[in-house]
Amino acid sequence: MSEVLVFRQLTPSDCALLESELPTPNDVDYCAKIERQTPGGYGFYGLFTGAKLIGVCQVRRQGPKDPRALKLATCPEIGNLYIVPAKRNRGYARIMLQRIEAVLRAEGYEQAGLAAEQTNTVALKLYAKQGYDRAGTIGKKIPNGSVDRDYFVKTL
Ligand SMILES: CC(C)(COP(=O)(O)OP(=O)(O)OC[C@H]1O[C@@H](n2cnc3c(N)ncnc32)[C@H](O)[C@@H]1OP(=O)(O)O)[C@@H](O)C(=O)NCCC(=O)NCCS
Repeated sequence: MSEVLVFRQLTPSDCALLESELPTPNDVDYCAKIERQTPGGYGFYGLFTGAKLIGVCQVRRQGPKDPRALKLATCPEIGNLYIVPAKRNRGYARIMLQRIEAVLRAEGYEQAGLAAEQTNTVALKLYAKQGYDRAGTIGKKIPNGSVDRDYFVKTL
């Protein structure tokens, strides 16, 4: 039987699951991220098989927060794409990217942007293959990034 995948917006009831399955660099507060969602603004989504979390991603419909990225693109920004280690290299990131793009397209958006560190070869390959074009370089993530990032834009 093929597995049934569900891609949906996260809710406060997902809080404990995220805290057990996701890493917490810089003490990221996943419950606060869930609470901070607004219609037409920030959204936080998960890909599931049954009750199991496969991965998450977020979207800032208002565009990038980083002014260096804003100079390159003002369209919604996809970010925090993350697949749990046990599920990697099976095409789930590609599926999740396609699902979040479909959400934005259905809302009437014509473009999406995202950033990737220049050393993240898996992410760079994924984005290129999914039709993202490099718009420029935006430097390191503030406050504690160590690698320069490139910014990419796709026409949805
Ligand atoms: C980057 C990440 C989201 C990719 O997720 P994934 O589900 O493993 O990716 P996919 O299986 O959809 O694979 C995408 C492409 O990368 C390739 N790939 C995936 N893992 C790979 C690996 N370890 N080595 C080489 N290639 C790999 C796949 O073969 C695929 O290419 P293909 O379409 O030519 O076959 C995941 O590795 C991750 O969560 N990393 C940590 C967080 C991160 O870096 N996020 C991105 C921020 S920009």
